[in-house]
Amino acid sequence: MSVTTHQLIQWKQQQRPIVALTAYDYAIAQLIDLAGVDIILVGDSLAMTVLGYETTLPLTLDEILHHAKAVRRGVKQGLIVVDLPFLTYQESPQQAMHSAGRVLKETGAQAVKLEGGYPAMAATVSQLTSAGIPVMGHVGLTPQSVHQLGYKKQGKTAQAADRIIAESIALQEAGAFAIVLEHIPADLAAQITQKLTIPTIGIGAGPHCDGQVLVTSDLLGLSEKQPPFAKAYANLRETITQAVKDYSLEVRESKFPE
Ligand code: KIV
Repeated sequence: MSVTTHQLIQWKQQQRPIVALTAYDYAIAQLIDLAGVDIILVGDSLAMTVLGYETTLPLTLDEILHHAKAVRRGVKQGLIVVDLPFLTYQESPQQAMHSAGRVLKETGAQAVKLEGGYPAMAATVSQLTSAGIPVMGHVGLTPQSVHQLGYKKQGKTAQAADRIIAESIALQEAGAFAIVLEHIPADLAAQITQKLTIPTIGIGAGPHCDGQVLVTSDLLGLSEKQPPFAKAYANLRETITQAVKDYSLEVRESKFPE
């Protein structure tokens, strides 16, 4: 039995922390699923981490669908959530329905994630959830709005904090099953977590969320640069570079193959 959106809500009630990570391919998806990660997010960070774009904005729906299908083939247990890329849902609820429908039909993922709060996005979430499409919200630092917000911490003034709280409540009322809180003060994340009945999944939002998400390339130490709140649990850039150098040397010195 794979993880369900209802289980996530129960886990919040039981105060059992939720673990989420990104994956963009079969091999990593399989490994993090076997390691017991609850939510596997095919994030639009794919654009930068794997495809080499500068921001998430150029990513297309077809590109993320391709990667989500590979992830689906690697996952048996975790709940797979796929990001809707920039301008594949903001134009209208109809456009969002079309894009989210393609995600669920073509990849076999169980849910979509979209950025932004209210009023427009809450109305879109309401339509998607009415059609049986589970939606995860995402507020605070929303990378698809980089040209408006930058990559700065959000919600630092009372007015900005109130807006993020209102957005989170609106998303919950619209039927979202969970909300990512990105790069906001820890006390604001704690307040939102307390107010909501659905789980909050934090990234750069302190320890008081119901769960945490990291970009897997940051966790593995594969990213060229990573945000200040990310933690690397390994240094794969170094490990891979060393392995490639060792191999190259052995080939050049006729030591491999033996
Ligand atoms: O695209 C992504 O990786 C994300 C996480 C940062 C939550 O949205």
